[in-house]
Amino acid sequence: MIKKIGILTSGGDAPGMNSALIGAIRSGINANKEMYVIYDGYKGLIEGKIQKVNKDTFKDKMNQGGTVIKTARLPEFKELSVRQKAVEILRKEGIDALIVIGGDGSYMGAKKLTELGINCIGLPGTIDNDIASTDYTIGFDTALNTVVNEIDNIVDTSSSHHRCAVVEIMGNRCADLTLYAGIATNADIILTKDHPFTTDEVIETLNRKKKDDQDYALVLVSEKFMDTNGLVEEIKKRTSWDTRLTVLGHTQRGGRPSAMERVNAVYMADYAIKLLNEGKGGMCVGIRNSKPVAYPIEEALKLENNLHKELYKLHDDVK
Ligand code: ADP
Ligand code: F6P
Repeated sequence: MIKKIGILTSGGDAPGMNSALIGAIRSGINANKEMYVIYDGYKGLIEGKIQKVNKDTFKDKMNQGGTVIKTARLPEFKELSVRQKAVEILRKEGIDALIVIGGDGSYMGAKKLTELGINCIGLPGTIDNDIASTDYTIGFDTALNTVVNEIDNIVDTSSSHHRCAVVEIMGNRCADLTLYAGIATNADIILTKDHPFTTDEVIETLNRKKKDDQDYALVLVSEKFMDTNGLVEEIKKRTSWDTRLTVLGHTQRGGRPSAMERVNAVYMADYAIKLLNEGKGGMCVGIRNSKPVAYPIEEALKLENNLHKELYKLHDDVK
């Protein structure tokens, strides 16, 4: 039976990570476990940045964005010798199990640590929503609302000037933030890897919208999909739209977590503690139809999100 559980956050921070942390600490202590936090992700783990916590340690952090236990990226964690060092440190502290809050990369680290005898459970902490074993990752809802608010602001000024706004949206290689924001803001064009258009098609659509005397035009492009500066130059050259580019970037990652984000995070964290208490590891928890679910990490990372096709159709229908 495990007695001591550690928690770390890893990869890009996300709003709601603190809620998952607080939920895990509370559920762990209620299950008579000693709870520890590890600062700075896997990097802090191999540096031994470990602290024992109680139910009140982060009591007032539920509404705070980012992660209070900090995060980091440590590419060397892919090396066996580095992970062996992590296991050695955990064993010295008597920590038997870990909750890893992060994205798919962090999940790989968790899976490999489990193979070395430390049971790990992953919680999906990333704004990108790129983990298909959960309906929503922790951070996605808040980031989506941030993105939509920003775009609403951009639309106010774009429509006042009869302009075309091109907005680049962060999300790594995952299109979800761009797709959902496109539907929520009634964008004219959504450009993602799953929904590509040629530059000619974009120009043709924008020229048609100009001819129809549309007030403003809104083009959303997901990060890492194309050169948005180049796109804006083409639009300026080949249409009469006065065009501006906004790259939302890291503004998307901060901010107070939404209420649903907090509730889902606490719910999933409680489930993670239950799984560890049953002696399970190498799994990740998600939310499906409002209930927590768990998958082996290996399986989870192979799943595909089939919701996209339906959602793109919604947008195309209203175009
Ligand atoms: P995210 O978890 O948000 O996807 P990263 O992909 O940057 O973010 O991964 C976070 C960290 O997880 C990496 O810096 C590394 O420490 C660890 N990690 C990523 N991939 C692996 C892997 N294949 N094996 C072991 N650890 C990994
Ligand atoms: O995974 C979260 C994320 O914000 C991605 O959307 C983005 O591509 C990446 O992290 C940015 O990483 P960094 O903060 O290291 O620039």
